[in-house]
Parts: sequence; structure tokens; C-alpha cells
Amino acid sequence: MLRLSCAAVTTKRAPLASDDASLRERLLAWFDQRKRQLPWRDTNDVYRIWISEVMLQQTRVETVLPYYQRFVERFPTVQALAAASSDEVLSNWSGLGYYRRARNLQLAAQEVVKSHAGTFPNTVKGLEALPGIGEYTARAVASIGYGVHVAVVDGNVARVVSRWKALEEPIDKASTKKTLASLATLLCDPRRPGDSNQAMMELGATVCTPSSPKCDQCPLRTECAANATERMTDFPKVESATKVRAQPMAALVVTKADQVLLMRRPNTGLFAGLWEPPMGEGELPELASRLKAAGIALKAIEPHERTIKHVLSHRVLTVTVATATAVTRVEKPVAPYEAARWFDAETMQEVGISRLAQLVLAQCSALKREQKPKARRPSSKAK
Ligand code: ADE
Ligand code: SF4
Repeated sequence: MLRLSCAAVTTKRAPLASDDASLRERLLAWFDQRKRQLPWRDTNDVYRIWISEVMLQQTRVETVLPYYQRFVERFPTVQALAAASSDEVLSNWSGLGYYRRARNLQLAAQEVVKSHAGTFPNTVKGLEALPGIGEYTARAVASIGYGVHVAVVDGNVARVVSRWKALEEPIDKASTKKTLASLATLLCDPRRPGDSNQAMMELGATVCTPSSPKCDQCPLRTECAANATERMTDFPKVESATKVRAQPMAALVVTKADQVLLMRRPNTGLFAGLWEPPMGEGELPELASRLKAAGIALKAIEPHERTIKHVLSHRVLTVTVATATAVTRVEKPVAPYEAARWFDAETMQEVGISRLAQLVLAQCSALKREQKPKARRPSSKAK
């Protein structure tokens, strides 16, 4: 979809260069006053700054703190890290997750020692050439460690910038990256680029938070387009959510005495090899007649009012569930299933059952219990 973004990007007054300069100053003054005391902010050691930035990828400051302290005590220099055993590096990373980061950390340390005489490269390009250092980390280390004038855009910064300019472009669209970087550069002071970048990250983490920004504490407030129209949480816009497809499904929980009929899915595709009550795309009558065609005669088919919603990455399954009683214990799978078997509560523990199938089964036993006192529940909203 094409959106007209120019009008929204431009605030009421076209921002003059001097506006941006005073905004940069306000941002830095706020940071000087309000910044959290973090150990990697007391050092000029590029090695330590790099360790902190790698740890902070996808991980919160509070989580990182104890790991950072332990790590730089055990490996105080890039030489110490390069020479350590990889088991020891991994054990000092243990609990931080994304272990690839730890492996790359040591590979990068070894390269810095071997090819750069123990000194980290002082350009974004040079840093990006090291293992595990992407654009984001390279820009953070170059600006904080070496004073290179480049803006860093992480998730926090993207949110602040998109609110500041009421940006209509979805921030997860590839072409928005450039817009975000050039807008963030306007707020990056060439004399103190590292502090400017950390100020923006800090602002996003502590003031311009996702669901309830504290605009009264924000140094950008007077120039913030989202704040001016009280549309703070309308930004950032995202594109991906709208691509999810709704998929209606039907499921039949067929029982006889205390047993339930489950079928095994093929070994490829969704829920491969797992057992579940027979289900399929489309409506309930269609599924029932497929079972009947396979020789599974049913009586007392009772659809439930409540559907089950199950979210997959690109689809939302909305499953209509019905209970039914089988006339005989036939064990014949219907396509695409590859096996059919009757289970009781105990034998069901022995096979793999998908989360969706568990929800379907749970709803049926819940309904049975609910329905016992009354003959029939009045029909109410379906959801
Ligand atoms: N997240 C990533 N880098 C950071 C930094 N230097 N300070 C605070 N949060 C961060
Ligand atoms: Fe975020 Fe509010 Fe500041 Fe705008 S004024 S940048 S919405 S905290």
C-alpha cells in the first residue's frame, strides 16, 4: 500500500537547522543529568565498550550488568579473551542466551590480536569486517569508543524517532531504514556522537517506552509531532501484522466409552508426526462426512459454541470443535493422516500431541464438566 508520508513527516513548522541543534543540546543535557551509571560508561576502553554492546544486543541492561562485570574481570583484555578456552568463554556467557554471540566474540578477539595488533579498527567498515559485528554494533562501538559521527538505530531509537516525526512509514519495512538513519543523524551531535546515541537509547528505554511514554520528562517534547497530536502510541507503525491470514478449521473429538480417536499427521509439514483429533480446513459437516466415508459412523455430533484461536507465524487458525460418539471402534485414518488409534488418558501420555490438539481436547473435557448440571447451555456469543 502506498502512503503519503511527506505531509506527516513535516511538522507544522519546517524544522530549521538551529532547531535541531538546540534539540541535540537538550537531549545531551537530559542525558548528562539523568543517565544511569553503567560500568561501560566509565571507560574509554574500546574492548569493554564492544563487550557491552554485544551483550546488550537483544538483552536488557539489568540482565547484562552482572554478566558484564564477571566477564571483564575474567577476561580483562582482548588478548586474555583471545587466549581463553572456548569452554571457559561459553561458561561465562551461560545464561545470556544467543550463544553464537559468545563464539563470535572470541573469534573477533582472536582476529583483533592477530591482524590488528590488539587494537580495534576505528571505522564502521573496519569493525563490520569482524565476526559477529553487524551495522548496529559497528556504529555503536565507533561512536562510543572512537567518537565517529554515526547514528545508531536500534528498536528503542526507531520508536523515539518515529514518534518525534509522526512517521507514517512502517519501521519494519526495509526502505524505512534510510529514513530512520537520516532522522537519527539530525539528533546526533558531531562533538559527542557516542553520548548522543546512548541518550537516544536511554530515552527509548526509560521515557519513550512502548505503551506509556512519559512525555512530561522528555527533552524532545516541544518538537514531538506525535505528542503534539496526542498520538504517541500510534507510532511506530508496523507493516507485518496485516499479512496474517485467517484460516477457519473444524475438529471432531470422537469418543467411545473412555477412549478418544486420534490420528497421526504425516512426517512432513505442520505438526509433523503428531497425533490429534481429526481436523481440517473448512466447515464441520465436511469433516464429518469425510470420516463417515472412511467407515467411521458417528452419532450425537455436538458443535461447541466457543471456537479456539491458534496463532501461527502467518496464519490464525480458528477452530470449530465438535464432540461426537463413534458407533464402533474403527481405526482408519482419513487423508492426510497416516494412522488412527483409540487412546485413553494414560496411553495419550505416550505420544506427541500438538499444543493446538491439547487445547481442542481440553475444551471438550472442560465442556463436559460444565454441562453436567444443566441439560443445555443457552446459546450466547460465539467467540
Ligand atoms: N543498548 C545498547 N547499547 C546501549 C548503551 N550503550 N546504553 C544503554 N543501552 C544500550
Ligand atoms: Fe516519545 Fe513523548 Fe518524547 Fe515524543 S514527547 S519522543 S512520544 S516521550
